[in-house]
Amino acid sequence: MSEVKHEDYNLLKAKIIEWENAYYIDDHPLVDDFEYDHALVELEQMEQEHPEWKTPDSPTVRVGGKALTQFEQVQHENELLSLDNSYNAEDLLQFDLRTKGMVSDIDYAVEYKIDGLSVALKYEDGLLVQAATRGDGFIGENVTENIKTIKSIPLKLKDPVSITVRGEVFIPKDKFLQMNLSQREMGLKEFANPRNASAGSLRQLDSKITAKRPLDIYIFDILSEVSNGKSHIENLEWLKSLGFKISKAFYYSDMQKIVDDLEMFTHERQQLSFDIDGLVVKVNQLEHRKMLGVRSKSPKWAISYKFPPEGKETILEDIIVQVGRTGVLTPTAVLKPVFVAGSTISRATLHNQDYIDEKDIRIGDTVVIQKAGDVIPRVVKVVLEKRSGNERKFILPDVCPECNTPTINKVGEVALRCPNELCPAKANRKLIHFVSRDAMNIDGFGESIVIQLMEEGFIENIADIYTLYMKRDEIIKLDRLGEKSIDNLLSAIDDSKKNNLNRLINAFGIPMVGKVAARKLAEAFGSLDALMQSSEEELIAIDEIGVKMANSIVSFFNEDINIPIIKQLMENGVNSIYARPNNQQTVLKDKKIVVTGSLEHFTRDEIKEKILLLGGTPTSSVSSKTDFVIVGANPGSKYDKALSLGVKVITEEEFLEFD
Ligand code: IVH
Repeated sequence: MSEVKHEDYNLLKAKIIEWENAYYIDDHPLVDDFEYDHALVELEQMEQEHPEWKTPDSPTVRVGGKALTQFEQVQHENELLSLDNSYNAEDLLQFDLRTKGMVSDIDYAVEYKIDGLSVALKYEDGLLVQAATRGDGFIGENVTENIKTIKSIPLKLKDPVSITVRGEVFIPKDKFLQMNLSQREMGLKEFANPRNASAGSLRQLDSKITAKRPLDIYIFDILSEVSNGKSHIENLEWLKSLGFKISKAFYYSDMQKIVDDLEMFTHERQQLSFDIDGLVVKVNQLEHRKMLGVRSKSPKWAISYKFPPEGKETILEDIIVQVGRTGVLTPTAVLKPVFVAGSTISRATLHNQDYIDEKDIRIGDTVVIQKAGDVIPRVVKVVLEKRSGNERKFILPDVCPECNTPTINKVGEVALRCPNELCPAKANRKLIHFVSRDAMNIDGFGESIVIQLMEEGFIENIADIYTLYMKRDEIIKLDRLGEKSIDNLLSAIDDSKKNNLNRLINAFGIPMVGKVAARKLAEAFGSLDALMQSSEEELIAIDEIGVKMANSIVSFFNEDINIPIIKQLMENGVNSIYARPNNQQTVLKDKKIVVTGSLEHFTRDEIKEKILLLGGTPTSSVSSKTDFVIVGANPGSKYDKALSLGVKVITEEEFLEFD
């Protein structure tokens, strides 16, 4: 075999780079995959024989390097600003008026607002030397190794310029679907949307994993003080000539024309190969931008226009009524399943009669479903044009669907309630709540067992649970429940007697008292007895216990029906004293912690309880004050926010180490 020459190596390398640019940037493949793969293997072999030839822009860098243990923090040389948002034409015209008040002859560039992650890429003498996430705009995370695996990012520019650019990393829609398909095939959790998938991929400590993810980028800004034109659009062209994949920019000579095109853009959104959540309107002339200046977090020369949330049409097939543990009747829409913003929806709460009446929702209607805050599905409106005349009006029943007791309206409340304390639906719900993981946490006591034991007359109220052991032999005779599972259940019931008081208080299901309030009450009073004796004033004096909650607690302990049941619980040996966790309370002292994604070892409430137990404070939203975010599988937008603010992120396993 003849000796490989350095020159051959350089030629092969240049050829592969050219192919990559053509494929990943210009969307114009020059060779097929086989030829590309083959050439890459050859290049790799040459580099193995001659490691001294390998340059930082070698395509072999794209496969990823050594795994990191954590991401380093990086101080951005120029702040990565964010944008002011607008939601309608009026906001945009207002922006136009404001800018025109300061500068005349304004023209604009409109770009897609790509729904991904913002990064800064730093090049020195044409070579990519550093890549960082936005973080809080000042400090981000060093993701250079991961960024190098993205083939649409040039490792070396066509000119040896020193420049820092900003762009958005994303995953195209079709690649996202394929990615989820293979996640499913491998039995792994699927990602909720392309943005989560991009964030998860870019945040891999092992860049070899990132290399396998279909990440892409559009560059839309220059961060360093260099420029090669008078306008943004000219600069984008220059960036393109340097080898960047640039964001598409549409030129507009005035804002009214942009407003006229908003609807067109909203439709076009569906056709694009990547997700966008709006548009960015930018003043085009660089001189004008300078005159307009920046605020503390955002420029005065740009504004984002956010599309209205995506709505999907479906048929409302039925309305069912559920009776909750406090007796409230909740109408729920049964929908023909429909895919909205990342998940299939078949139910949506209709809240109460007023909600149904205001929107004139009828059974059989075609309705529009939207996700509020991208999470909870809502019926936003009825498509009146699609009414056939066969739709049926719905009125909440004036008797409880479970026990036929006439329903009531409490003064000042919209909700309709079943006032019957012995209503089986309420009793069901109360018992199901009592044994649930967040309450007494009785293992093996699922909803169906509760219902079966109630139907067979073994239990009527929460106290009966603790006498079940006396009926063991009769219960064993029931179909479905094996001897072993009954014994396990009875032993779990027995164990639950030792639960700390906060669990018991939560398990009572006192209206408005959730897990966190239950702990506060247990901490403040130390025993159930003391809590039962407390006055409204004493309760209000506790941090985070308001008048309404205090009122609800006092009423609960004054209700005739509750007292004998609580007494019976005590007689059956259920603990009513709060054992203060002593040794652990300092580990997370004063730490504000947010949880996102599905966890393996805890329910949401369990992890909150654990955080509290370790002295930390669970909080619901991420801000710069958050100390860290615990991330499970398929994390939501809180994860992205943590990344963009540079808030520390830890896994569930890392959290377990605090114990
Ligand atoms: S311009 C100072 N252009 O939207 C100019 N941003 O807060 C800064 N984004 O996280 C932004 N597509 O990463 C701009 N074509 C685009 C964009 C874009 C997506 C993101 C950006 C930032 C957020 C705005």
